[in-house]
Amino acid sequence: MSVTSVVGLQWGDEAKGKIVDFLTDSHAVVVRYQGGNNAGHTVKFDGQTYKLSLLPTGILRPGVTAVIGNGLVVNPEALLNEMKSLTDRGIRVDGRNLLLSDRAHVIFPYHIVEDRVFEQRRGDHAIGTTGRGIGTCYRDKAGRTHAVRVGDLYHPESLRDKLKDIVAFKNLTLKALDPSLEPLNADAIYAQYQTYAQKLESHVVDTTAWLHKALKQKQNILFEGAQGGLLDVDHGTFPYVTSSNSSAAGIHSGSGVPQRAINRMIGVVKAYTTRVGGGPFPTELHNEIGQHIRDVGHEYGTVTGRPRRCGWFDAVATAYGARVCGVDEIAVMLLDVLAQLDELNICEAYEIRGERTTDFPSHVEDLEVAKPIFRKIPGWKQDITGARKLSDLPAGARRYVDTIVELLEVPAKFISIGPDREQTILL
Ligand code: IMP
Repeated sequence: MSVTSVVGLQWGDEAKGKIVDFLTDSHAVVVRYQGGNNAGHTVKFDGQTYKLSLLPTGILRPGVTAVIGNGLVVNPEALLNEMKSLTDRGIRVDGRNLLLSDRAHVIFPYHIVEDRVFEQRRGDHAIGTTGRGIGTCYRDKAGRTHAVRVGDLYHPESLRDKLKDIVAFKNLTLKALDPSLEPLNADAIYAQYQTYAQKLESHVVDTTAWLHKALKQKQNILFEGAQGGLLDVDHGTFPYVTSSNSSAAGIHSGSGVPQRAINRMIGVVKAYTTRVGGGPFPTELHNEIGQHIRDVGHEYGTVTGRPRRCGWFDAVATAYGARVCGVDEIAVMLLDVLAQLDELNICEAYEIRGERTTDFPSHVEDLEVAKPIFRKIPGWKQDITGARKLSDLPAGARRYVDTIVELLEVPAKFISIGPDREQTILL
């Protein structure tokens, strides 16, 4: 039995979707356990490109059950739209192949308004959120008093009362923060969400109990992480993080499946580094090399379209991500993007206030002043997108991957040299 986890070790967008899609053939169940429609995966399947946000990648494959676990925050409108965009293209999405946890939390319109207002008030210190109401919904989850879970949508009487109370409170606080805002209407929201509830009802189950049965039946299960280890609310570059445990730490809490059930932990790393939104980024390139990587790697956000910040591979940050996630192997993605550069840099240590360290700092102000210490590696000038085995790669590319492996102390099992499935070297 294979119970596998695929998790990003950087600041998200490591091209996890490709690895998840690659492994889906050998797994019957694909589970998302955290985040919401802030995530974006682009997956090529049957010659077509799909952009998924809330739906687990497994939804594209016949015979796979896709599970939206309890740890997610779900915008029902976004979920229904995404489901429709797939059914319009002939992909089956029904109550048998898509399950939604009754414990997942529900995003409401006020979460999205709050996300915008809170970000505006932070001014220069804005987190740079995706504006989807993710953090504000998790805030209510932790606060409990104003939270609504998917299961609550099916208790209409108590939901109506609850929403009246919540919306009155939200109107009060939002008005104080921005007097120009129109108040939200609890009855209208209630009516709208009853419609969503009806449309989603056939998918809603206790996914924890369902997953425990799947484990007992020895089904192969794949856990699909969204974002990456360095955006984890506990272990990432706080406060410039997302609001969930986007490292492997979230698997247990966000699915109910104990960590010890997992027997293969795969960390996905991009051959360079990107970041969207605010926060420190020691190896960021503010020059033409950064722009070159952005152009060649199409580094623009799947969800918001924002240009991603680009920089050299940061082995200090990524090795920390690998340790927190406890990965046994890595997949090195987008190596092809680095062809044509004369010389490459990999950050092997930081200098923080005159001290050399390979420890990843826990405080954002230490990371802000960290100066990267680079190991230089000669570039290669060949196009490598046609490589199919390690020996097809030029010596420079092999040395580059070997350096990542050495610094992360984790073996590489996949090297990706293009978006298609065949553009993958298995080691
Ligand atoms: P939020 O998740 O919308 O609250 O955004 C918090 C931070 O996480 C911001 O810096 C976002 O850009 C970042 N973020 C959220 N989702 C993703 C993702 O899927 N990829 C990369 N960054 C993300």
